Amino acid sequence: MKAIVTAIAHHVPPDVYDNNWFTKRIDTTDEWIQTRTGIKERHFAFEGGLTDILLPAAQEVLRQRGITADEIDCIIVATVTPDRVFPSSAAILQHKLGAKNAWGFDLSGACSGFLYALVTGAKMIEAGAAKKMLVLGGDKMSAILNFDDRTTCVLFGDGGGAVLLEPSESDDYGVVDHILRMDGAGEVHLHQKAGGSLRPPTIETVTNREHFVYQEGQAVFKSAVKGMADVSYEIMERNHLTADDVAWLIPHQANLRIIDATAERMGLSKDKVMINIERFGNTTAGTIPICLSELYQTDRVKRGDYLVLSSFGAGYTWGSVLLRWSIDKKEKA
Ligand code: COA
Repeated sequence: MKAIVTAIAHHVPPDVYDNNWFTKRIDTTDEWIQTRTGIKERHFAFEGGLTDILLPAAQEVLRQRGITADEIDCIIVATVTPDRVFPSSAAILQHKLGAKNAWGFDLSGACSGFLYALVTGAKMIEAGAAKKMLVLGGDKMSAILNFDDRTTCVLFGDGGGAVLLEPSESDDYGVVDHILRMDGAGEVHLHQKAGGSLRPPTIETVTNREHFVYQEGQAVFKSAVKGMADVSYEIMERNHLTADDVAWLIPHQANLRIIDATAERMGLSKDKVMINIERFGNTTAGTIPICLSELYQTDRVKRGDYLVLSSFGAGYTWGSVLLRWSIDKKEKA
């Protein structure tokens, strides 16, 4: 038995901020941002919380599958920007959705959060512990960005997506394999200084602007290029797949140069690499479900396609998932 994706959707806040919006505030240019990252614009929601972004995606998943919220038995939300430290965003979402029979939890895996959650959800389905799992990944990065720090604020955006996982009797489709990794030594290069139990909020932490993303870009870049390329290649190789067998690489969208290096290592041509970083920036746990949902919506993925999902993020966390796609949009329409 395997866990298959039976519905997928995403949502981003409506307001779009292009690179020129930043040039009025900080010392940067549209040219620098585009050439160094590939980003042209991103969506921000300066009001509301993460669950306001995820709720429409979750509702769309239920609509697509034709089920009611009370049929969901577990909700996992992957995020580093929950509505509150507690209760979990899974609990808040459960209430907003009316999923009264669901339990659930948040999972903190930063940019790899959705892959961690997808694998966790799939294993629960395979174990028979759940029949209808709602797995979401998303972040409201605008809540933790220092808009005076040009090295970080231009990189991120708000958004997220949701999948419904269900058991399939057939072994032909679903989550085929995964490689998930973590190296806590990466903490020094990418973290949020204050707000947790180590450094609770004080006037000093707020004045020092310690509640925002801190990133040493070049150090993260080097590890990301190697980490993402290694696991993406390894998952292909150990499943005896060649570049010809892979329909799509669906990479975390942090930097176009990291994506290009990963595709090159796998021997994939550019037309097999899902890229939307130019429109959304880095939505952290949101990038992969948003990419997958856009591919599905635009009918570019069909049942039986082999998809390699791969990510790298804070922790460090990184990994790849081999997913054999299970739904045809044409049949659903
Ligand atoms: N506009 C203009 N100049 C900027 C800038 C901006 N928005 N941000 C940084 N710069 C400057 C720097 O100050 C530096 O100037 P200096 O040479 O005078 O010191 C110069 O540009 C080069 O900075 P650097 O950090 O070396 O650039 P880079 O090529 O490494 O690109 C990142 C920066 C952040 C885009 C890149 O390192 C990256 O993508 N890192 C990985 C991010 C990631 O994967 N994160 C994990 C998931 S969250």
